[in-house]
Amino acid sequence: MWITKIAGTGSCVPEKIITNNDLSEIVDTSDEWIRSRTGIGERRITEELTTAGLAAKAAQNALLDADMKAEDLELILVATSSPEHFFPSVACEVQGMIGGKNAIAYDLSAACSGFLFALNTAYAFLKSGSYKNALVIGADVMSKMVNWKDRSTCVLFGDGAGAAVIRAEMAEDAGMPEGIRHFIMGSDGSGAGVLTCTARSNGNFLLGKESQMGYLSMNGQEVFKFAVKKVPECISQLLSEADEKKEEISYFLLHQANYRIIESVAKRLKLPLERFPMNIEHYGNTSGASIPILLDELNRSGLLSRGDKLVLSGFGAGLTWGAVLLTW
Ligand code: UT7
Repeated sequence: MWITKIAGTGSCVPEKIITNNDLSEIVDTSDEWIRSRTGIGERRITEELTTAGLAAKAAQNALLDADMKAEDLELILVATSSPEHFFPSVACEVQGMIGGKNAIAYDLSAACSGFLFALNTAYAFLKSGSYKNALVIGADVMSKMVNWKDRSTCVLFGDGAGAAVIRAEMAEDAGMPEGIRHFIMGSDGSGAGVLTCTARSNGNFLLGKESQMGYLSMNGQEVFKFAVKKVPECISQLLSEADEKKEEISYFLLHQANYRIIESVAKRLKLPLERFPMNIEHYGNTSGASIPILLDELNRSGLLSRGDKLVLSGFGAGLTWGAVLLTW
């Protein structure tokens, strides 16, 4: 039997650290407000590296971890909402940077749920037998999307990239039965207005409308309400459909948007918060990159053992949400 498993992980965050106190010099905010409302203490902001640059470094780290050559990749998917260009795609840039010349490459846009949507897409290709080796990346440079004069959003986000090599293997070769087991995904366009970033080329020649800079804008409370309801619902549905008990799950890796959201999800699922690893204090919300960065940190810290059951779950603009169950 063929299984689809995560064979390696990698990540890359910029070196430059911007603390809450640094931000209090730009906008009317404080370390106390940001920490108590979000759990964020600092974030990384890129100076030199582009979205593709961060993504390529995360990809190289994931390939090393998987002991795989870039030429062996058949598919490269990048989930991003902050590409440098409308075209070429970040995925094509990454393909060129890492030398993955045999892979087809394209981007996917599902905001903070993007990594899960891309993982689901790669999983479908691998499960169908189309490809055996794929690279899935979540990469975002949110620092170029936010309005640095808007304290209600600019304090929340950070830059980074995370990647996973996905491989289809015969179960006997893998020595374990399962890998990626079940997905739940959802989208609700009726909630599109609560979290948006206007495209930067929305001008119109005939109407004499100049292109303008678009910025991220968000109704924070609506997104908060959506997340604390939808994430536990979607995880419960995932586990029920897979006939798996929540108590059997070693870790729940949630999109790192707000400490209070994660705390509320743990409470609603009646599970201890220790099962919900977090790194939001150090990176803020890195959008599509947050889940794979967290996964890579767990993997590298040796916290994951073969056979551990994991749930990854994200939510974000669209509105979009999703969760995946896998055995490590
Ligand atoms: O991955 C994308 C998903 N996004 C999210 O998950 C975001 C979900 N939402 C949230 O995390 C929270 O709603 C926020 C952290 C964004 C905001 O927290 P809140 O508890 O909902 O605060 P609020 O928007 O109700 O604002 C409370 C007060 C307001 O002042 P008044 O009207 O009470 O005087 C804001 O103007 O806090 C003020 N405020 C700030 N004060 C200091 C807003 N931003 C700041 C700030 N520093 N940075």
